[in-house]
Amino acid sequence: MILFAGIAVLALLLVPATSGASGGARVGAQTTSSSAGLQAQGRQLYLQSCAACHGPNPNGPSEYSTVPSLRDLGGAAAVDWAVRTGRMPFQSTTGEAIARSKPRFSEQEIPALSAYVGRAVGDTLIPEVDAGKGDVARGLQAYAQSCAACHGTNGAGSALGGANIAPTMLGVSPLDVAEAIKIGPGQMPPGGGLPQYTPTDTQSIQRVNDVAAYVQALNKDRFNRGGAPIGGKGPVPEGFVAWVIGLGLLILVVRWLGTRNHT
Ligand code: HEC
Ligand code: HEC
Repeated sequence: MILFAGIAVLALLLVPATSGASGGARVGAQTTSSSAGLQAQGRQLYLQSCAACHGPNPNGPSEYSTVPSLRDLGGAAAVDWAVRTGRMPFQSTTGEAIARSKPRFSEQEIPALSAYVGRAVGDTLIPEVDAGKGDVARGLQAYAQSCAACHGTNGAGSALGGANIAPTMLGVSPLDVAEAIKIGPGQMPPGGGLPQYTPTDTQSIQRVNDVAAYVQALNKDRFNRGGAPIGGKGPVPEGFVAWVIGLGLLILVVRWLGTRNHT
């Protein structure tokens, strides 16, 4: 029983990673829907799980000086990213929510939350991305110019000083890439440093697709690019190895279960 529960959780965790690894064509919805039901559900979830820290109105002040108001954080995309990656709801009113965690809302609840907050703050855009349309070589170039200084050429991430960490690109989905670039979470600048970035501009979308394709390639080909990732890149590399090995084993286990269940 425990084994099965564990595997179920791990399978859930694997969804973004494996969808990325298998070509990565995860496309964000253009704009979050604004249907009344979705809005009402989103509002309820917000009041239950977010308002205690971020304030009763997403477009108003937060409850603590150490908690940012959702007014200027990037609208629906910021909520979608923070909640999908399990960073929010946070357990503390202070500190940096750098670490990913298990998402606490369902795939149906997350769009409701994002749509509600997005509408309240006047930014409902979830950026478009299709890593399948990206070019890895161009992506490498753009990534090397704009992202590598913080996230490392091999995607290992790095410590930026203080409590700030540019996180690893391992297990990051194309939608994570597009949303992070749009919102610029924490120390990351909006646009991620990509030249002339605007989320709806065709050239920007192509560049994001390229970068997303490169990040997918990094995820597939971690040990063959940019030398060995171990050594000299801050606190993260050992974690990678565990991840890569762990992920490989998990995929095997999940596949094995899959074949068993279908018979
Ligand atoms: C216990 C307090 C707390 C709760 C509850 C909470 N947050 Fe936060 N939230 C924070 C803090 C503190 C930060 C700043 C973290 C940081 O700078 O990395 C933050 C940051 C954010 C950010 C910006 C993330 C970034 O790195 O740019 C978003 C978006 C967000 N919260 C959304 C939500 C949503 C949506 C909910 C409800 C599902 C929620 N939060 C619940 C405390 C909270
Ligand atoms: C100045 C340093 C800096 C630059 C430049 C930068 N980032 Fe970031 N990035 C960060 C930091 C810091 C975070 C974590 C923010 C947080 O959690 O609040 C982050 C978060 C992310 C995430 C979210 C990862 C996750 O676990 O969900 C992605 C994806 C990402 N960045 C991709 C990029 C890409 C692609 C570029 C280049 C186009 C880029 N970043 C440029 C510092 C940077």
